[in-house]
Amino acid sequence: MSGEIHLDNRLKMCASFVRGGSKLADIGTDHAYLPVWLCRRGVCPSAIAADINPEPLSRGRLTIEEAGMSDRVEARLSDGMKSIAADEADDFVLAGMGGELIARIIDDCPYAKAPEKRFIMQPMTRSELLIRFLCENGWSIEKQDCCDAGGKCYTVIAASYTGIREGNDELFFYTGKLLPSENAVHRRFIQGHINRLRKQAIGDPRYESLAQRLEEYCDYR
Ligand SMILES: C[S@@+](CC[C@H](N)C(=O)[O-])C[C@H]1O[C@@H](n2cnc3c(N)ncnc32)[C@H](O)[C@@H]1O
Repeated sequence: MSGEIHLDNRLKMCASFVRGGSKLADIGTDHAYLPVWLCRRGVCPSAIAADINPEPLSRGRLTIEEAGMSDRVEARLSDGMKSIAADEADDFVLAGMGGELIARIIDDCPYAKAPEKRFIMQPMTRSELLIRFLCENGWSIEKQDCCDAGGKCYTVIAASYTGIREGNDELFFYTGKLLPSENAVHRRFIQGHINRLRKQAIGDPRYESLAQRLEEYCDYR
């Protein structure tokens, strides 16, 4: 098989959240490894590899061509989902971007609230802002997990729109559905939040109480 693709643990976890048989849109695809990998394994019948910038998209196009997958994976220039029609994808992966940008891209998409659509998100930063956005705007987190890739800890979140606002507690924006007392990688991810909050607490002591609540959560959940 030509152009074999190897996903790291971060993208493998994103791939594992994609529903079998779903048409995929990988938003901010860059190299297009994920859509090619999923279509080649038969998880997805087709995929759009989308990026806002021509340069990463040309890298993606090369991956698709080298893998011989041009009949099933299309490279497309798109700002978020703006150039993707509602019936072209069921599952949307938004990986490797900041939490705020991911939230904005979903907020800008007119069909994101269709309950059958699933968003698989892997925020590189500010996951708490993304989870706050999801909770306050009626998205339900269906699952969340963490992984180690290259010594760094990442979280992956799958959510769909239900219209029900859940979890308004600030603590939840940091923990999401993670279970740190049962899972060492979940604990490590939350410890990263605690460390950052402690640094912020030097300038603003209010962050210390949140850091303490997160520590208690790690001991009991
Ligand atoms: C760091 S790369 C992530 C690549 C891949 N998704 C991954 O996780 O390995 C982020 C990509 O998102 C793209 N991007 C940034 N803003 C975007 C937007 N509004 N719509 C689509 N793509 C965007 C960038 O051009 C860049 O190629």
